[in-house]
Amino acid sequence: MRKILFLLISFTFIFSCVDKSEKEIFVDDLLSKMTLDEKIGQMNQYNGFWDATGPLPEGEWQKNRYRHLKNGLVGSMLNVTGVDKVRALQKIAVEETRLGIPLIFAFDVIHGYQTISPIPLAESASWDLEAIEKSARVAATEAAAAGLNWTFAPMVDISRDARWGRVMEGAGEDPFLGSLIAKARIKGFQGDDLSAVNTIAACAKHFASYGFAEAGRDYNTADTNEYTLFNTIMPPFKASVDAGVSTFMNSFNTVDEIPATGSSFLQRDILKGEWGFNGFVVSDWGSIGEMIPHGYAKDGAHAAEIAANAGSDMDMESSLYVSKLNELVTSGKVEISVIDDAVKRILGVKYDLGLFEDPYKYCNEERERAVVGSKENQDAVLDIAKKSIVLLKNQNQLLPLKKKNQTIALIGQLANDKNSSIGNWRGRGISNSAVSVFEGLNSYKGNKLIYTKGVDVYYGDTNFFTRVDINYDDRSEFNRAKSVAKSSDVVVMVLGEEGYQTGEGRSRTNLLLPGLQQELLEEIYKVNKNIVLVLVNGRPLNISWADENIPAIVEAWHLGSQAGNAIAQVLYGDYNPSGKLTMTFPRNVGQVPIYYNYKNTGRPSKSQKAVTTSAYSDVENSPVYPFGYGLSYTSFDYSDLTISSETINSEENIIASITLTNSGEYKGKEVVQLYIRDLFGSLSRPLKELKGFEMVELEPGESKIVNFTIDNSLLKYYTVNKKWESEPGDFNIYIGGNSDVEMFKKFKLMD
Ligand code: NOJ
Repeated sequence: MRKILFLLISFTFIFSCVDKSEKEIFVDDLLSKMTLDEKIGQMNQYNGFWDATGPLPEGEWQKNRYRHLKNGLVGSMLNVTGVDKVRALQKIAVEETRLGIPLIFAFDVIHGYQTISPIPLAESASWDLEAIEKSARVAATEAAAAGLNWTFAPMVDISRDARWGRVMEGAGEDPFLGSLIAKARIKGFQGDDLSAVNTIAACAKHFASYGFAEAGRDYNTADTNEYTLFNTIMPPFKASVDAGVSTFMNSFNTVDEIPATGSSFLQRDILKGEWGFNGFVVSDWGSIGEMIPHGYAKDGAHAAEIAANAGSDMDMESSLYVSKLNELVTSGKVEISVIDDAVKRILGVKYDLGLFEDPYKYCNEERERAVVGSKENQDAVLDIAKKSIVLLKNQNQLLPLKKKNQTIALIGQLANDKNSSIGNWRGRGISNSAVSVFEGLNSYKGNKLIYTKGVDVYYGDTNFFTRVDINYDDRSEFNRAKSVAKSSDVVVMVLGEEGYQTGEGRSRTNLLLPGLQQELLEEIYKVNKNIVLVLVNGRPLNISWADENIPAIVEAWHLGSQAGNAIAQVLYGDYNPSGKLTMTFPRNVGQVPIYYNYKNTGRPSKSQKAVTTSAYSDVENSPVYPFGYGLSYTSFDYSDLTISSETINSEENIIASITLTNSGEYKGKEVVQLYIRDLFGSLSRPLKELKGFEMVELEPGESKIVNFTIDNSLLKYYTVNKKWESEPGDFNIYIGGNSDVEMFKKFKLMD
């Protein structure tokens, strides 16, 4: 501590050199006192000796960690949580190393620290940016109270492939919505002042193209062209820089045949060059060393050289910077300016967090006890959980359920499960702590609720490192479930995925309900057709059969700590659902990748019968549920689409308006969506692109005119000139309740 004070005093003294900021003066001064090894130490991040979230390097380096910590050879730790543990390690860094530079403590606070929000894909379905920001703030408040400074979130990877398990961690398939959500989450984590005790540094990941893993297999090659990279993948990353995100994480995959971790184009030219990002880049877990199996680095030293020169500032768990960089600098393979730049960036974020002012400022046991898991936080995650639910089908108004005199059969292992809804990437979410659907429904006392499992989706305990087997063939509970269903008025079936059946390393080639759940659903349907199917899952599933046969379907995702209460309130109509899908639901896995903003092709198809058009022989091209889709207990009518002008120049705006009417019987919210089609360009253009949305709440019978302002910025894209620009020509404007909207108006952008 004394060392830090000394540094602070010396920095004040040097303050006379004016045009640098206080932060720059402080960081430069500290840097000037550091040895090469101490600088390299700042670029080294170790896992906290427990709770790994990736494969650990074996042998000598693991044993040496404690020694490295004492010698100032560690700049950051991940997976160390809780004030007592953070304080213990911070004490070593601050009080036992020569310069006393504090560590920055990182953790995957993806959708909550201990009080768990819905998985990010679910939250994105709320389209409610305020609620999403609030949810990130709850997570940050708890994490910061538990001693943490930095989360590896938000994951802003766009993905069009539900086979990829990590879609649960993102905001879906659309770059426009994904950018707004990235900003909201960063604001939620970082607030306006990173040094406040309820904010933490955010990390935009995985830079870049990780969500485009071929065939949805995690860590696989991503083969995208430059235009997909800039028009689809990059916008949420750019938005993250604009939102002031403190850090970036690179990714495991290759981009243009080069591992992203070794890509100077991505990290130096684009991120730190063109976009002016002044935070730091952390590698993904071991991704520096993984350039060797990629066949891009011949050994560890080569990998460290490539990564450092390419702009990866901090090495997460490869131990290659700490072991190889000194020699690389001495031999001239890595310039000292590369090291200095990386260290300045890292020290800069520590400065912003206020760690130099007080390295223990996030270490307050009393605050930790008061904040983590508080009632206030539980209420906040219940709110976002309700907003994340998407009503997919509601024939004959089977929902909301009647509150009295009904016998309700509740079927499915996931209905009586307090664990799955916490999802993957659950931070320090406590196992079996979520409110189950059974508990949620059971708190409504007017009906008779009979629970029966029906079938297993998983056995025993599950965790981050175990694959959850989905190949059971035990039908012994089928008959009991059928007899309960037969004698009930309504059957609520809760089916889907266990929490660890999605997430990192959980790619699937089959998107059906895992195990025997589909078979059970069909069996129950034979005895009682009054089924409400509640899906508990982390990705779009193939529910084509259910869509054709089951009268009511509710997409309830992995909703977090308050899942059961949120689901019960929706099923009983105490909350009218308003969520809209942010990923397309395919008819079957063969349609994947499937997304709404596709290109027309030279042979667009309207009918399967037209053989030489771009169509399948076995299913229609269209999905079961398109992007932007979701129902309400009320109904909404769209009418009178008008535009203020049919021609504009690049300086002018168009106002597009529509009348929205609540034509049903409930008060409800609707996400009104604006799509634009650029009919002709220097590159082939998507059929539709989301360019705006507004959430509108209306009483039954009420109408509102919703206006969107379309300016030149909404017409720009990364063109053949490799620039963001609009191109004169014809455009269509669509406004509706999902991406399948047909009603449009035309306008022309003049030269
Ligand atoms: C690997 C994952 O890809 C990344 O998202 C995560 O932040 C790190 N492991 C640390 O757990």
